[in-house]
Amino acid sequence: MKLSVLWLSGFAFSALLVGGYAFGNPGAQVPRDLTQSEERRSGTNNAHLPLGLPPLPDTVQWPTKAAVELGKRLFFDRRLSFNNTLSCAMCHLQENAFASNQSAKAVGFEGRTLQRNAPSLLNVAYQKWLFHDGRENHIEWQVWLPLLSPVEMANPSIGSVIERVRHLDDYIAVFEKTYPEEGLTPNTLGHALAAYEITLVSGNSRFDKWRFGNDDGAMSAQEKAGFALFVGKAGCSNCHHIGEQTALFTDMQFHNTGIGYKAMVDPVSSYKVELAKGVFIDVPSSDVERYSEKPINDIGRFAVTLKEEDRWAYKTPTLRDVSKTGPYMHDGSLATLKEVVNYYNGGGYANEGLSGRLAPLNLSAREIEALVAFLKTLDGELSYWETSTNQGVESPAAIADDGPVVLRPPGERE
Ligand code: HEC
Ligand code: HEC
Repeated sequence: MKLSVLWLSGFAFSALLVGGYAFGNPGAQVPRDLTQSEERRSGTNNAHLPLGLPPLPDTVQWPTKAAVELGKRLFFDRRLSFNNTLSCAMCHLQENAFASNQSAKAVGFEGRTLQRNAPSLLNVAYQKWLFHDGRENHIEWQVWLPLLSPVEMANPSIGSVIERVRHLDDYIAVFEKTYPEEGLTPNTLGHALAAYEITLVSGNSRFDKWRFGNDDGAMSAQEKAGFALFVGKAGCSNCHHIGEQTALFTDMQFHNTGIGYKAMVDPVSSYKVELAKGVFIDVPSSDVERYSEKPINDIGRFAVTLKEEDRWAYKTPTLRDVSKTGPYMHDGSLATLKEVVNYYNGGGYANEGLSGRLAPLNLSAREIEALVAFLKTLDGELSYWETSTNQGVESPAAIADDGPVVLRPPGERE
């Protein structure tokens, strides 16, 4: 039967929501000095970021090789989850630009489903707020939410995670080598995972070459027309910002685009599931719901701030590598970029709090095609992970070569 085949493939479709996360404290300040041995923990080489990306914000530092190798290993290690099955990498897939293409909402512990779509981790070091509702504000702390969420990695406590890693004896020596003064602690675990994530930078896309690198031939006439619409008639850059020298395609703010409201009053009747690249089938919601808990309404940023204007507001996502990160929006309710552009063309789903920056756009079919073509020029070159040897560490000896991670141009191997 079709459905059970999907189920066996594990991540092939998603059901609906279970709230698993604790809410962060939105007012908390990130301490500048995260630990005493900061110097050993961070490299200084920040100079090789690809074209189109600004310097990293002050709150994150370019990491050392040792921390990155350790973090990478943790990121891919299924033993970090309570029943040894789920790693970070299983929801943030490298080949999907560190998002998950196969399911609208991520599938977690024992097949339970999450409230939301797994976002791409590319350029996550620049994010001022983490999660679709921005409830966490530092990448080194973010890791505890998936590690402890009952629907994700399902560990019962911080201490139990530390004990778990301590008993995986292949880690202790690596932690001690990487963080000589601290060894394995909640801080160093967060630091290492964050170190790996910080290296996931993507830039030097065809758009960057054209816009910031003076390469007129890097984009076609249709793509350039799409760009003109993006910053002009379609008003996209009002929220997905493009700067003079660099572009992150986000204003780091939260907006009500109607997607959250629509999910409440007009839930989707079926989910598009991608079985293989470009091959979609529709799975009725009723089939999905049989495997999930009763949905509760996702109210977005409101749950973090309790401010009425934040109801159904979500973080403006970066659009870099967006061709690879579908399905789209916080709930994965739009399957393709064309569906997204059509949605904006209609002005967004009307509701009381709908952003004043959205209105019907009256785009022609040709203009819609051009905007979609433009969005596809944002596929970047993933400098570090595609070009280093990148296999993680096999033994502590493998990380003897410390020092800052250096980004290499694609094609150049270590
Ligand atoms: C079961 C699937 C799943 C697992 C496992 C998982 N994540 Fe996620 N991740 C998600 C989802 C879904 C979100 C969005 C949640 C939300 O906004 O409420 C997310 C959000 C994030 C974000 C925020 C990105 C942004 O731009 O706001 C980061 C960073 C992240 N995850 C890193 C990790 C790390 C590190 C691990 C392992 C320790 C991990 N994730 C494990 C599904 C997962
Ligand atoms: C009012 C601010 C605003 C404007 C204007 C805007 N966006 Fe967005 N965009 C957002 C927010 C907020 C989200 C996330 C919504 C959610 O998760 O439910 C988003 C999501 C997206 C996504 C999905 C990305 C992903 O990874 O899921 C795409 C693609 C996108 N916008 C493209 C566009 C285009 C193209 C335009 C112009 C036609 C546009 N946006 C105009 C704020 C805006």
